[in-house]
Amino acid sequence: MPRVFESQHPLVKHKLSLLRRTGTEPKKFRELIRELAMLLAYEATADLALEPVQVATPLGVADCRALQEKIGLVPILRSGLGMVEGIWELLPSAEVWHLGLYRDHKTLEPVAYYNNLPVHPTVQVCLILDPMLATGGSAVAAVDVLKGWGAHRIKFVGIIAAPEGVKRLSQAHPDVDIHIAAIDSHLTPEPVQPGDPPPGYIVPGLGDAGDRQFGTG
Ligand code: URA
Repeated sequence: MPRVFESQHPLVKHKLSLLRRTGTEPKKFRELIRELAMLLAYEATADLALEPVQVATPLGVADCRALQEKIGLVPILRSGLGMVEGIWELLPSAEVWHLGLYRDHKTLEPVAYYNNLPVHPTVQVCLILDPMLATGGSAVAAVDVLKGWGAHRIKFVGIIAAPEGVKRLSQAHPDVDIHIAAIDSHLTPEPVQPGDPPPGYIVPGLGDAGDRQFGTG
């Protein structure tokens, strides 16, 4: 069963309202992406396995629980990069494996151009990071790559999704949980006249998440 978690956290909703705003400058935009990624990762990691550990405190021994599994963060280049830093602060021992996928502007299908995964899986849980789940093509391709690598537990963590992307990812990979801050209305269609926005963008969305982070728009 696909599980789609749209965050209801007030901080997520507030920060998303700032992130979407046209006037939000790249520096603030990056800060918000980082903070939203942390909040969403907090929710996405709520079911991580724990193991008992005994810890010496200054006054005795405490029965504690520590993370059992190794986590891999898999940002989809380039806009997933901005989500890494915040999550890494929460999970400092996470491994980060980059995946380069871009959307062909004509077919809107993902084209893989970079992958630095080692031969065998080194982590038990993978978090795919991509702020925008638009057509779902890149997300499905990323899960295909990770499953081909041998990863079993995979979650997608994004910021804004289109219903089309949620449907495509859920149908292709029903075992992958989707954690998202908001599910928007629809995707832009093929342009019919000059000045129309490019196709496959989320409406109302926030525009191009890569350009807005890196100041390249
Ligand atoms: N990628 C983006 O950056 N924005 C969208 O709306 C869709 C894909």
